[in-house]
Amino acid sequence: MKAIEIRNKYLNFFKNHGHVIIPSAPVIPENDPSVLFTTAGMQPLVPYLLGEKHPEGTRLTDYQKCVRTKDIDEVGDNRHLTYFEMLGNWSLGDYFKEESINMSFEFLTKELGIPAEKLSVTCFAGDEDCPKDQVSAEAWKKAGIAKDHIYYYGKEDNWWIAGEEGPCGPDTEMFYDTGKPACGPNCQPSCDCGKYVEIWNNVFMEYFKDKNGYTKLKQKNVDTGLGLERMAMLLQGKETPFDTELFAPVMKKLEEIQQVDYIESRRIVAEHLRSSMMIISDGGRPSNLDRGYVLRRLIRRMIRHMNKLQINLEELSILIDINVDNLKEMYPDLEKNKETIKSVILEEKDKFVKTLNNGEREFQKEMNKLTGTKMIPGKILFRLYDTYGFPPEVTKELAKENGYEVNLEEFEELFKKHQEKSRAGSEQKFKGGLAEQTQETISYHTATHLLNAALKQIIGKDAHQRGSNITADRMRFDFNCDHKLTDEEKKQVEDLVNKWIQEGLPVTKQEMKKEEAIKSGAECMFIEKYPDIVTVYSIGNVSKELCGGPHVNNTKELGRFKIKKEESSSSGVRRIKAVLIK
Ligand code: SER
Repeated sequence: MKAIEIRNKYLNFFKNHGHVIIPSAPVIPENDPSVLFTTAGMQPLVPYLLGEKHPEGTRLTDYQKCVRTKDIDEVGDNRHLTYFEMLGNWSLGDYFKEESINMSFEFLTKELGIPAEKLSVTCFAGDEDCPKDQVSAEAWKKAGIAKDHIYYYGKEDNWWIAGEEGPCGPDTEMFYDTGKPACGPNCQPSCDCGKYVEIWNNVFMEYFKDKNGYTKLKQKNVDTGLGLERMAMLLQGKETPFDTELFAPVMKKLEEIQQVDYIESRRIVAEHLRSSMMIISDGGRPSNLDRGYVLRRLIRRMIRHMNKLQINLEELSILIDINVDNLKEMYPDLEKNKETIKSVILEEKDKFVKTLNNGEREFQKEMNKLTGTKMIPGKILFRLYDTYGFPPEVTKELAKENGYEVNLEEFEELFKKHQEKSRAGSEQKFKGGLAEQTQETISYHTATHLLNAALKQIIGKDAHQRGSNITADRMRFDFNCDHKLTDEEKKQVEDLVNKWIQEGLPVTKQEMKKEEAIKSGAECMFIEKYPDIVTVYSIGNVSKELCGGPHVNNTKELGRFKIKKEESSSSGVRRIKAVLIK
């Protein structure tokens, strides 16, 4: 079964069980400054898991585009991916364990046709924070899982939380038995010999964790996640995701054009190419900071491995074409954004080729100087990085090829020191969700606050911000609203913002306790996401918002505000695109 069929079956199955299909959020989170990329389907839904009402109701399902880069160096083996798709279904205070388990069992056995004997499941063993999950185990037994296919594990295996704090709970995980021989008498799902492969995780989110410990959430939620690439691989009886139709065309092309044969390098090129394309398609651009740096690393590592395969880098353009053709049915945006994707990747390639030549020469010089040690010190890694733009991962790979090791820890320390210097600026930027901190983006940022305030006066006080995205050329702003704005409303909003701009209102900044800020009527999107002491920006007395900044000093600096487009973003959410004309 092809990946797209699995996806469609999944969404339809849950739709038939009363779920509303919601669109995938972008891989670059719009409203969440706490993470670089969307790493799980639940991430865009956090406010709703915490109790806010979702406009589509209490049963949701989607496919979510995800990027996880923690294991980037592992890509090239037979299973790690930086980009993957997660299928998910959610109960926001609706059904709980038994119904969730019944639906999972039915989907796996009836829709995907997996025999129940090939499934094993794991449940939470219980500890001082939360009792043993016998309810789930019973539900599995009733559904049709044999008793000796049910395992109990502790928090390390059967508890799910994104990061250190947030909504969380015990989970039950489903494993597929590949039929490979057991690695020993103790072989079981928790072991990573490859016999058992985890396919789905249902989290029963009824707790919230913060630094003081666990408390109960207002509602009992279910959050599930099923990795699409992995499921496709298993159902197709393939050994790796690279053998499925998702990667096959690019892998085949790489085999044709390579001069030397390295399977790991082919996988790295295919994986990083798809991942970079998805990130760029959702607005990511290479840079030396945060998510831009992750993208840069992906592209540069891909190019290094194209070099290793001795593939002419001019072939990149064809590889992109092949991927767009192959994936456009699943991700129509790839086709829409194809030219941008190409120009971003090719430009980054050109930059890196220069870097590589200079850096490799410098690397050789440094190698020749090293005597009596096979360990390259951190300060050399840092110099190659800082002066020649040579990513430490690349130095590490080069070093390995030459029989050397690198002192990454020392590099990290130097890198941290370097980062601390530029931290103030960078953190501010990150909090504000801005891609680049230029005069233009800062102006747009202030304009979003004015627009937010104007919408509340013209459309109604419930027109809350749902997201925003800023580039140097325009702003995009999503807000709650149950109707298409009339021309009259758009004009009123525009006029009000321009009036405030002309009035030359001062923009002021104040630090205060979070509760005080909220009491004083300051706007904010996700209160839970802010630290105890927050920054509040006020514009005259027309706007007050929790925000990391930065902003212009006076609204006079903004120019003329013009709405270019007003459209639906999702159900109950409208999107305005606007520009500032200076
Ligand atoms: N949030 C859980 C996970 O990522 C289930 O979706 O595994």
